[in-house]
Amino acid sequence: MPVLEIQDLTHVFPDGAVAIAEINLKVNAGEFLVIAGPNGSGKTVLALHLNGLLRPTRGKVLLDGEPIDKNIIAARKKVGLVFQDPDNQIVGQTVAEDVAFGPENLNFPPAQVGMIVKESLAAVDLSQFATRSPHALSGGEKRKLAIAGILAMKPKIIVFDEPFTGLDYPGVVQVLKEILRLHKTGHTILLITHELEKVLAHADRLVIMHKGRLVADGKPESVIYRAESYGVRMPLKDGEKVSALTWLK
Ligand SMILES: Nc1ncnc2c1ncn2[C@@H]1O[C@H](COP(=O)(O)OP(=O)(O)O)[C@@H](O)[C@H]1O
Ligand SMILES: [Mg+2]
Repeated sequence: MPVLEIQDLTHVFPDGAVAIAEINLKVNAGEFLVIAGPNGSGKTVLALHLNGLLRPTRGKVLLDGEPIDKNIIAARKKVGLVFQDPDNQIVGQTVAEDVAFGPENLNFPPAQVGMIVKESLAAVDLSQFATRSPHALSGGEKRKLAIAGILAMKPKIIVFDEPFTGLDYPGVVQVLKEILRLHKTGHTILLITHELEKVLAHADRLVIMHKGRLVADGKPESVIYRAESYGVRMPLKDGEKVSALTWLK
């Protein structure tokens, strides 16, 4: 059974904008799936449906076979969403408080929360900043803080929405390393990005969205040839997948 199944998912906003239409997708446990598509193709709206932050106009999302609207709290525990702008995810006065927010809200036992915060900060190598204000972190560190906040909720599936936006090269390397580590430790990864050259060498599967529809789905090496016609730049050179970060593998 897929860990995540999207069935005929359609979202129409009150102003009539059809943001996504008739999306069907099955994701297996442990997969590393990249979702690409031009601006406005519906990637973020799709992501917001995966842990119940938006409700479908039509269709549904199943986690381990269960519709997520049956138990939204369980869905938020299973699917962690790392937002596009890490500043939007900051909720605490300090780095440690920020990471504690998620598990506290999911009613983890208070005695456990302190331990989870320590583990999560250590996992992304931010322990030394525990008492600092989140706003005093660099772009890459803020993104890692957002990841720690998600890890603290112990999700099986992690969705990253454009995690490389605004990062310099060392920031990209830090965040990509962390994503690859999470994949290796058994998490199912959905990575939304148009920066395919950074990730494609690591992906099991590539999905392309265009005008709210899922227009291609398959092995990166076969789907990538169709990417450019949908406005996604192709990271191929001499027929080979190129990744500036292949050495990270
Ligand atoms: N709150 C909203 N109200 C109306 N339309 C929206 C809203 N949010 C997004 N949209 C529209 O839905 C479409 C998909 O948006 P989005 O998922 O953010 O695209 P992407 O993340 O692929 O750039 C766009 O046409 C966008 O204008
Ligand atoms: Mg987006």
